[in-house]
Amino acid sequence: MSPVGTIVLLSGPNLQLLGERQPEVYGTATLDDHVAAARAAAEALGYVLEHAQSDHEGDLVGAVHAARGRADALVVNAGALSHTSWSLHDALAAFDGVVVELHLSNPAAREPFRQVSVLAPVADGSLAGFGGLGYPLAVEAAVRLLAARG
Ligand code: DQA
Repeated sequence: MSPVGTIVLLSGPNLQLLGERQPEVYGTATLDDHVAAARAAAEALGYVLEHAQSDHEGDLVGAVHAARGRADALVVNAGALSHTSWSLHDALAAFDGVVVELHLSNPAAREPFRQVSVLAPVADGSLAGFGGLGYPLAVEAAVRLLAARG
């Protein structure tokens, strides 16, 4: 079966340390494990999944630009940039496909600085607090939104 479309998964700063980084908060699965789960979900629904991770805000902004007109949906766990990055906010606002914001933890239940997402206003929806389960859920949500858009 040829792919129906493309989903781009973006991972922000420090997420390459998953598995070692605060496992009591983020679990023991690695970023590769999460990407594999997201990719399996995408492929089961007929989509190709591409992944990029960067610690640098500009790289993530560039990855959003590169997805414009090419990818159908973005799934974005921007890490701490979720709480600060107006440039990523603006880049996502200029993306015309589906945007799903994703977090492993539930930032609403954590420190005050995590309780605001500057990306949420430009996402179609946000998924947080489901741990690794969030990755396939976010892909499925993106595909369902795409189908609903027709
Ligand atoms: C995170 C939550 C952010 O507050 C934090 O800075 C991260 C990970 C999450 O997946 O729970 O790096 O995005």
